[in-house]
Order: sequence, then structure tokens, then C-alpha cells
Amino acid sequence: MSIKSLNPQNDGLNIIWNDGSFEIFPWLWIRDHSENEKDLHPDSKQRQIDVFTETPQDSVIETVVDQNSKKVVVRWADLTESSVSFNLLKSMAKTSNPNAQALNNDTCWNYPSEIKTFPKMTYDEFMSDKGLKKWLMYIQENGFVLVSEAPASSEATKDLMERMAYVRNSIFGGFSVWDNKLDNPDDTAFTSLAIEPHTDGTYVHDAPGLQTLHCLKKDSVGGENQLVDGLAIAETMRKEYPESFRILSSINIPGRYIKTDTYLEAMRPLFRLNDKGKVIQVSFNNHDRAPFRLDNKMMSQFYEAYKIFHNLANNKSRQFEFMLEPGTVLTFDNWRVLHARASLTGYRQLCGGYHNREDFESRLRLI
Ligand SMILES: [Fe+2]
Repeated sequence: MSIKSLNPQNDGLNIIWNDGSFEIFPWLWIRDHSENEKDLHPDSKQRQIDVFTETPQDSVIETVVDQNSKKVVVRWADLTESSVSFNLLKSMAKTSNPNAQALNNDTCWNYPSEIKTFPKMTYDEFMSDKGLKKWLMYIQENGFVLVSEAPASSEATKDLMERMAYVRNSIFGGFSVWDNKLDNPDDTAFTSLAIEPHTDGTYVHDAPGLQTLHCLKKDSVGGENQLVDGLAIAETMRKEYPESFRILSSINIPGRYIKTDTYLEAMRPLFRLNDKGKVIQVSFNNHDRAPFRLDNKMMSQFYEAYKIFHNLANNKSRQFEFMLEPGTVLTFDNWRVLHARASLTGYRQLCGGYHNREDFESRLRLI
């Protein structure tokens, strides 16, 4: 879309696009968003202009479309100039983006058979030029990816993770290697017990974005992993149980993590929505749910809604089940996909860690 003409008006600059549509950008907005070197630092891209401390400049003497530089220039009565690029104007043509930060519900899967392209690639493919892009796209589309034929070493797994971004630190450390025979495990994840479908970090304000797991050594029976698309459950509940969906989108559920020297607690709705009602995050961990109470009627409605989600997540037909084996690295979107594990006997050694959500989003923007 390109600019056909400009029509300065009292309340702002009316920009007429070549398809005949138009959009009025207020004068103050244009001055505040000016991309001139003095207004927006060319390297840091940080705003230098401060429209809140200067004398308001709403008197315009000229507006120009610069087709060569693809920008609109506004000359103000005090002889200063502001300029905004076509790209910025185009990206701001709508006052809010309905998909802002939303998960991609075009490709959510209710059953593993609904996964269109199974998200699996080899380690060599991942390490190739276009490998990271494919890996990121698999996660964005399906909520997870498997990288096979990887060296069964913590170094190779760490290299894989750091190709995406730095590994996030947490109470469990950064990149870690652990087994199921710890004397004092900090979490059920470090034992042989079964774990219900859940997302990690319901007790921190900013839950981990991606989680990577790689089984390095295995001399065990059982311990199958399951993945469930929480986004698909959200969209199913939105249609089939709208009142329960509303309750789970609005009631803050606390999560907690208590150890000798740590007491974490945070709260958020099970379904976090953006201002257009699209799902940004699914957050569910029945094991880590902290005590909380609503009035009795609301508490009963909450239990009913939570049970519907719980039962859908525990429905085997919704779960993609597989065994973590040495040489296959699993990464999943912890803001969308729930993970679970069957109990096991024997010995397993695993390694892995977390990435922040914003670093995953940053990579996606750059590809
Ligand atoms: Fe977990």
C-alpha cells in the first residue's frame, strides 16, 4: 500500500492510501513519532523528542510526501520538521492489532492427527543456515519441535539452545543437567513420579517462554512424555463452554513454590487474553496451585470450569505421547503447550533449560 495524497486537517494529517482508504494521524502523534535523527536516535532507535516538555507545535506550514525516501515530512510554524516513514504509517494504520502477542490459533491441534506437518528436523539441519528459522516456525505453528540425531551431550544441547538466545536463569539455575536419583529433589520433575499436564512457572510473574529437554542417558522403563495443545483447549472451551472460558479468562489463579529458602507466588488467569480477546498465554499447574478462595458461588463456578479444562488436558486422545531418547531434543512453547510425564523405574539423566518468551518473539520478528 502506498500513499496517494495528503490532506491536512485541523485535527491531524489525513493520509489517503492508493486503495482509496484513509486514516487521520493526529499532529501530536506525528511529532511524537518523528523518525528524524534528532527525534529518534538512528542507532539505538530510542525516542529523543519529548513532546511533553516542549511548547505544543500544532501549527503546520507544509506537508510533503517524499516518494524517494518513502516518508511524509511535516514542517511546523517554528521551522522544525518531523518525518514519518511510509512503513511506520502502514504498520500503524489500524489503531490496535487484534493479533498483538496472540498465539497462532490457525494451527492449533485438538488431536495429534491434526498436526499438519510433523515438527521434526535433524541436528545438522537445525545447525544449517536456515535451520533456526524452520525450528522457530515449527514451534510457532505447533507449539513444539523435535531435533533428532543430536549428539547425546549437554554441550551439544546447550549449543542448540544458545543458537536461539541465551539460556534463562531461574531458581533451578540456567542450563542444567540432572537425574531422577537426587537425594533432595527441588521439584517433582527431578523424581520418578508421574506429573499431570501442566505449564512451568505458574508461580513466577513471567513464566518461561520455551523449555528444552534432552534425555542424555536412559536405563529405565516408563516415563513417557505427553504434550497437549492448551491453545486448542482454549478455543474448544470458548465455543463449547463460553461461561467457563470467561471464568478461566478472568479469575486470577495463584501458583506457589515453597522450599526452605524460597517462597515464590504469582497469579494470573488460566487463559490470558489480549484486548481483542485472543489468547496470549495458557497457564495451568494443578500441582502448584496455591490456596485461594472466592465467594462460595464463584468458587463453585471456578471448580466447574477448572475441571472442564483439567479433564480436556488429561484426555489421552488429545495428547501427543512419545519417549524422550538420547539424541532427540524436545523444545516446546510453555505459554501454549502443556507437558506431562508418566512415572518411571530405573535411571534417567536429562539436561535442558528455559528461554524467555520475549527472546523467542524477538527471533521470530527478525526472521
Ligand atoms: Fe514441568
